[in-house]
Amino acid sequence: MVKQAAKLFAIMIGVAMAFTSLAQGEVKMAIWGKTADGVAVPIYTLTSGQIEVRVTAYGAHLVSIKTPDRTGNAADIILGFGSLQGYLTQPNSYLGAIVGRYGNRIALGKFTLDGKTYQIPVNNGPNALHGGPMGFDQYVWKSQEVPDGVEFTHVSPDGDMGFPGTLTAKVRYTLKGDTLRIDYSATTDKATVLNITNHSYFNLHGDGKGNILDQRIEINADRYTPVDAGLIPTGELASVAGTPMDFRKPEAIGARIDDSNEQLKRAGGYDFNFVLNGKPGTMRVAAIATDPASGRKLTVETTEPGVQFYSGNFLDGSLTGWNGVKYEKHGGFCLETQHFPDSPNHPDFPSTELKPGETMHSTTTFTFGVTK
Ligand code: BGC
Repeated sequence: MVKQAAKLFAIMIGVAMAFTSLAQGEVKMAIWGKTADGVAVPIYTLTSGQIEVRVTAYGAHLVSIKTPDRTGNAADIILGFGSLQGYLTQPNSYLGAIVGRYGNRIALGKFTLDGKTYQIPVNNGPNALHGGPMGFDQYVWKSQEVPDGVEFTHVSPDGDMGFPGTLTAKVRYTLKGDTLRIDYSATTDKATVLNITNHSYFNLHGDGKGNILDQRIEINADRYTPVDAGLIPTGELASVAGTPMDFRKPEAIGARIDDSNEQLKRAGGYDFNFVLNGKPGTMRVAAIATDPASGRKLTVETTEPGVQFYSGNFLDGSLTGWNGVKYEKHGGFCLETQHFPDSPNHPDFPSTELKPGETMHSTTTFTFGVTK
């Protein structure tokens, strides 16, 4: 009798644990492959309900995000290579990468901090893009499993790509319910500048399934930062009213992309930093994207002051995804939550400076759903 009761109790505990783990989601680690110098690279699979997210320690890339459409069919909604080899052999593709130390552009790769001038090697015409030619996307980060996810750490030495200070950066991905949360933090031992973000290209039809021009976007911004010919902010915070940058009401990405607008022509489509409404440092909606065809919906919330809405204008078929499909122009869109591009050269933009003793904290969430 006692034995039977104990057995029943054990079964009940087992069932309860199984349910708890289902509700909390699951985290699985595997070794995905090795770098050319033999470093083993983990990949983590996070699951919660019908959502599955894969993320690798190589560049802390988001590799895939599988979400159901309105009929329950799952598809991977970000562009990616599917094998470690793809990332190793196609560097600077930034597909799902963590970009750093400085996401987006620094004019001429140059800035002055505390009276000293620093030079980042340029890799985008005359400017530095995404932290220079050897950015955070090309390192194997240290990884540590955490509840519902994984935390990656990368230590960038003093002088790395010309930036001052030893910078310890942490990126934590957690999946709970329908929300993927990214927490960024960083410390330094010398004053420095930084702007770390995730560079996922979304396509709500599914990875490699046509372009994103019929997908709709709403951006919570009354203003944006216009750019010069090299896509460097002029410093102005311009109103979106009466321009193709007005996404305060949902609009198809392709609806006005070919308008005769000087800014759109310069960028070959959308490639602008939007000044988010609301208080930086507090979580608020940055953007909502929907796909009328599949019903998939993506809501992006952030503590950051801006979001770079980029319509994949420079994708030109030279990158081949996991399914053999070449990524053509407008094959994906990015919503990179961030500080404004070239902030170190614009003292009136929100500061990207980090001093010793301070910790930078930033949070962005991607919530997945469906519309009717
Ligand atoms: C930039 C684009 C750039 C792309 C490269 C985006 O963050 O805004 O101008 O071409 O990154 O992947």
